[in-house]
Amino acid sequence: MMRTHTCGELRLKDTGKEIVLAGWVQKTRDLGGMTFVDIRDRYGITQIVFNQDEDIELCKNARKLGREYVVRIRGLVCERSNKNPEMPTGEIEIKAAKLDILNTSKVPPFTIEKTTDGGEDIRMKYRYLDLRRPDIKSNMELRYALSKACRSYLDAKGFIEIETPVLIKTTPEGARDFIVPSRLNQGEFYALPQSPQTFKQLLMVAGFDRYFQLVKCFRDEDLRADRQPEFTQIDCEMSFVDQEDVLNTFEGFIKHIFRTVKEIDLDDFPRMSYQEAMRLYGSDKPDIRFGMSIVDLSHQSKGKGFGIFDQADLVAGIVAPGAATWSRKQIDKLIDYIKTPQVGGQGLIWVKVNEDGSFKSSVDKFYNPDDLKLWQETMNAHPGDLLLLMSGNDLAVRRALGLLRLRLAAQLNLTDANDYQALWITDFPLVEWSEEDQRFVALHHPFTSPKKEDIPLMDTNPAQVKANAYDLVINGVEIGGGSIRIHERPLQEKMFSLLGFSDEEAKEKFGFLLGAFEYGAPPHGGIAFGFDRLCSMFGGTDSIRDYIAFPKNNAGRDTMLDAPSIADDKQLKELHLEIKKDHR
Ligand code: AMO
Repeated sequence: MMRTHTCGELRLKDTGKEIVLAGWVQKTRDLGGMTFVDIRDRYGITQIVFNQDEDIELCKNARKLGREYVVRIRGLVCERSNKNPEMPTGEIEIKAAKLDILNTSKVPPFTIEKTTDGGEDIRMKYRYLDLRRPDIKSNMELRYALSKACRSYLDAKGFIEIETPVLIKTTPEGARDFIVPSRLNQGEFYALPQSPQTFKQLLMVAGFDRYFQLVKCFRDEDLRADRQPEFTQIDCEMSFVDQEDVLNTFEGFIKHIFRTVKEIDLDDFPRMSYQEAMRLYGSDKPDIRFGMSIVDLSHQSKGKGFGIFDQADLVAGIVAPGAATWSRKQIDKLIDYIKTPQVGGQGLIWVKVNEDGSFKSSVDKFYNPDDLKLWQETMNAHPGDLLLLMSGNDLAVRRALGLLRLRLAAQLNLTDANDYQALWITDFPLVEWSEEDQRFVALHHPFTSPKKEDIPLMDTNPAQVKANAYDLVINGVEIGGGSIRIHERPLQEKMFSLLGFSDEEAKEKFGFLLGAFEYGAPPHGGIAFGFDRLCSMFGGTDSIRDYIAFPKNNAGRDTMLDAPSIADDKQLKELHLEIKKDHR
């Protein structure tokens, strides 16, 4: 028998048992006549003790063990005299009777323990060693627990999991496609799916009624902590539903996974329109764990001779609670932040509401204490608070204040990672104007239906058309998004034409879907959740990379495989691709 128990299993009640354990050497300590070896496997760590007085040869062999050697130990479970309450197996140790070295190991490039000396790059290069560390390992276990909870809810609700192809034709979700050259079809390419959007709609046309899939999606876009070029969605679609049915089903879904995996009962999710979210929080994914909403001060601030405010489309501000004592240097840092390209603001006006009710501001020249008092009252600020105001174009001001709000919340510790506040954002615009492309682009994707009453506006004022689209946001993170779809060919054609596709282009790209809509497509809608984002949220961190077994780095590289890499000439030739020697 290779082993009788795992390294996380033995307890005081097992004292006296003859056992066999197998695992990796975490560390050895040599204390004169005794050698202690901690061995580790997926389930935990057990201390093994080798006593020189009992078996000198065995003890000698134990001393030769290096970190990460793979060993098998036969021995007796004994109560420890020096118990370790930090370890689940800390009350016992194994008196070794036999040691087999199953494999040796080079000295690992970083310590394989909870806190490691290895930087991100080296850990990614040796990811199989990083995965031995307890935190990363438990992230994988969390991921699996979450996948089981997702499947159990969807299964109970009658959804069936159906796989869709990976070598497909482009699906427009707003990012670039990864493309794959075809050997058998010279000069032609597959695209990897950005999502299975059109397939799940075809499955509804096919009558499957309720579909889901935990599915890999591929998007060639700039990467961030919460974005990977290949990531996993919990992709879902339902027939004969309206928006209310979808929101209810998936609010139940999110509550179920929180209850099952985190033992947290979430309150009912509030709903907020896109317009309201932008007005109050300057973001379509507001973190509502804290207030600090944006207050319009245009009326209270214009006409006092302060030109910057007088000429602005909007003057608005937020209140930083308790920050009136901040130094000039601290405020200057916020101003620098506002001016970064990411925020794109011009500057920031500040007003300190002192504890004694007096004011100090950067615009004392233009506004007297009565004016500032009015601002304080309008913003519902208290003595000790700092008011921060911006002016300019309405949307730009709100977006910048939205970002400032998040930065302040982090600085003022206003959020608790264990507090989960979910909400639905609804009523997104159907399309928005793209300056870059000089055409309307779909805010969600081209298959999202407009609100029925807004259909006539598609011809007259497309930017005003609202969509049957919704996002699920938790703690300021977009966890999922979906919509009720268009299921009639004429409306889908109208949508393609609004997006600037000619009839030929629409037919060439989406003829299969338009065709399917002519064979009895039912009304349908759905949603997809970012599975990796859910995992990292459940684990309490921002980086989804920690929840993916073999992730890519920020440059989209797998440093372990050293991918992407150059293909050899023979492969390129077979694919009918030009070989660019100077690229090597
Ligand atoms: P959407 O594009 O909003 O919708 O994607 C759904 C969810 O997937 C997650 N996500 C990502 N996670 C990690 N890395 C990425 N690069 C990445 N991109 C997106 C987000 C997002 O909310 N077909 C539609 C869904 C539908 O309409 O049903 C779609 O893909 O959490």
